[in-house]
Amino acid sequence: ADTLGSAAAGQGRYFGTAVAANHLGEADYAATLNREFNSATPENEMKWDATEPSRGTFTFTAADQVVDHARSQGMDVRGHTLVWHSQLPSWVGGLGAAELRTAMNGHINGVMGRYKGRIHSWDVVNEAFQDGGSGARRSSPFQDKLGDGFIEEAFRTARAADPAAKLCYNDYNTDGVNAKSTAVYTMVKDFKSRGVPIDCVGFQGHFNSASPVPSDFRANLQRFADLGVDVQITELDIEGSGTAQADSYADVVEACLAVDRCTGITVWGVTDKYSWRSGGTPLLFDGDYDEKPAYDAVLTAL
Ligand code: XIL
Repeated sequence: ADTLGSAAAGQGRYFGTAVAANHLGEADYAATLNREFNSATPENEMKWDATEPSRGTFTFTAADQVVDHARSQGMDVRGHTLVWHSQLPSWVGGLGAAELRTAMNGHINGVMGRYKGRIHSWDVVNEAFQDGGSGARRSSPFQDKLGDGFIEEAFRTARAADPAAKLCYNDYNTDGVNAKSTAVYTMVKDFKSRGVPIDCVGFQGHFNSASPVPSDFRANLQRFADLGVDVQITELDIEGSGTAQADSYADVVEACLAVDRCTGITVWGVTDKYSWRSGGTPLLFDGDYDEKPAYDAVLTAL
C-alpha cells in the first residue's frame, strides 16, 4: 500500500488526522488529507465552545464542513469531544448542580443527535483525571458540582443519543503504565463490571523529549484491551525531527499493531505548518506537505 490509510486498512485499522475546517480550502491541505487518511477528527469544531456557545443555541457550520468533507471522501469521523473542562463556554461554569446536569445531557443530546449515525467513535469525556501520582479526578465544573458520577451519566446519555457510535474515554499522559492511567483503568474496569456503556479508551499520544513514547505503551494498551474495550491512539504527535522522530513514530505504530483491539491511529494534524504546537515539527508532513522520515517510518511499520 502506498498511503497511510490504505496501509492501515490492510492491517484492519484506520489512519486518521485532526482536520481544521478553515484549511479545507487550501488545495495542498485537502489533497494530502484526501490522499493519505481514511479517518478525520474535527480539531476544534465539535467542542462545546464551538457548538453551544450560548445555552441551547447550537451552531454546527464548521463541524458540518469537516463531517461533510470527510464523508464525501469516504472517511470515518471521530467525534471530539462532548464533556471537557477546556474550551468550555463560561455560561456552563455559572450553573448550579441541577442545571449543570441538565445542560450536560442537553449538550450531549444536541451534538450527538446532529451527527447520529455518522460518527464512528465519540470522545464522550476528555481529560477528567489529574496529572501526577494522585490518581484523582481533575477539578472542573462537572467534577466539582456533579461529583464522580458525571462520567457515568455522560456515557449513559451518549449511548441513548447514538447507539451506533463507539463511546470512548480519552486522556493524555495515560500512554504508559502510571498512576494516572491506572486510575482510568480502574474506572473502565468498574464501568465494565457494572454495565456502564463504554466501548473504547483513547490515548492522545502527545510526545516530546520530556514525555517520550513509553517503553510499556504496548503493555498498557493491552491491559485496557483485556478489559473488553477497544483502544485507539487519538491525537498522536511527536516533537523532534529526523531519525529519532521516525523511530518513535514506528514504535507507536508497532505497539498498536501488536494489540488486536487497537483499532486505529489519529495524528493531530496534517502538516507541521498548522500544528497546535506552534513552532514545533511533530507531524508526518512538513510545511510544504512533503513526506518526512516519520512518514516513511509509519508506512514501513504498517
Ligand atoms: C487543541 C487544538 O489542536 C488547538 O487548535 C486548540 O487551540 C486547543 O486544543 N487535547 C485535546 C485536543 O483533547 O482537543 C487539544 O486540541 C489538544 C490536547
